Amino acid sequence: MHYTTLGRTEMRVSVAGLGCGGFSRLGLGTGGDEARAIAIVHQAVELGVNLFDTAASYGTEAVLGKAIKSSPRDQVVICTKAPFSWSTGRATPDGIVAALDNSLRQLDTDYIDVYQLHGVPPANYAHAVEELAPVLLRERDKGKFRCLGITETAPHDLQHETLQQAAQDGVWDVAMIGFSMMHQNARERVFPLTREHKVGTLLMFAVRNIFSQPGRLQATLRELAADGQVGAELAANDDPLGFLVHPGGATSVVDACYRYVRHEPGVDVVLFGTGSATHLKTNIDSLLKPPLPDADHRKLGELFGHLVGVGLDAPHLSNPRPRP
Ligand SMILES: NC(=O)c1ccc[n+]([C@@H]2O[C@H](COP(=O)([O-])OP(=O)(O)OC[C@H]3O[C@@H](n4cnc5c(N)ncnc54)[C@H](OP(=O)(O)O)[C@@H]3O)[C@@H](O)[C@H]2O)c1
Repeated sequence: MHYTTLGRTEMRVSVAGLGCGGFSRLGLGTGGDEARAIAIVHQAVELGVNLFDTAASYGTEAVLGKAIKSSPRDQVVICTKAPFSWSTGRATPDGIVAALDNSLRQLDTDYIDVYQLHGVPPANYAHAVEELAPVLLRERDKGKFRCLGITETAPHDLQHETLQQAAQDGVWDVAMIGFSMMHQNARERVFPLTREHKVGTLLMFAVRNIFSQPGRLQATLRELAADGQVGAELAANDDPLGFLVHPGGATSVVDACYRYVRHEPGVDVVLFGTGSATHLKTNIDSLLKPPLPDADHRKLGELFGHLVGVGLDAPHLSNPRPRP
């Protein structure tokens, strides 16, 4: 494993972070049981992962808490999130403290490392920073958590308005950002600010259904070509990203996805969610490989650098079981 420093938090974290949400929810969202979810966390720990991201709404805090009992508490970085949903966009100060206390109970731990407001839409950012953050910072000072973080609601904030503001406000030590080969605009809109202000960054959306479900990429490119956003030749190609896979390049499209985001300047930790022991291993292998060849990286910029918001599917839109 490779380790880095999570912005100004000074925490040493693995560059690969296990996401406990998304479609898989450690496999609980795809038919797996608690024993398998715990085994996934243990396998990640054995491979050197020390950062785990969960949320009140994922329903995985308790299982993560059980799984990490076998690790010394100061050897793992637990990130969880307050239920601040894009659908309601608001939370009360009392409600947010109750949620924090509940997360501590679910995780069965004395403190959380990074406590994040979950999916804050731009329209409610003022509410988050003016009314909720001061209350949470008082709880931090009591020792309930170490650092305050914020996550954007990527499918509903395509220009990263929330994080553009949050990165500069000095309140949030950590930010979670959507960035992928098909949604590259954080490069100009977020990373320069998080780097300048030393905000730690957690990456999400590197691989969603567009890259993991057969046929989804081709269907998306056909729609984009019909809309004039990509060339017709890409849409006509059965293996449109096949050019990335070659000796000296990526071993698969998913391998390319993770390597693409991992080496982006300004990215500290790449989160990936999985319920599969095989995917866990191959994803970590990908994240430890060198960058994609320059020519491939450049071509991804030429082909897709202008796209915004492609492939940002949220679990609740296409699968009722997992939570956003
Ligand atoms: N706003 C927010 O706060 C927010 C939003 C989104 C995500 N997150 C966090 O970020 C984490 C990561 O999210 P994400 O968007 O990167 O992805 P994700 O939602 O965790 O989903 C990754 C998907 O790709 C599949 N997959 C993983 N590795 C694969 C491989 N090697 N080959 C084929 N399929 C593979 C997984 O299925 P398998 O189980 O089959 O591997 C899963 O369906 C989440 O778990 C969550 O902790 C936060």
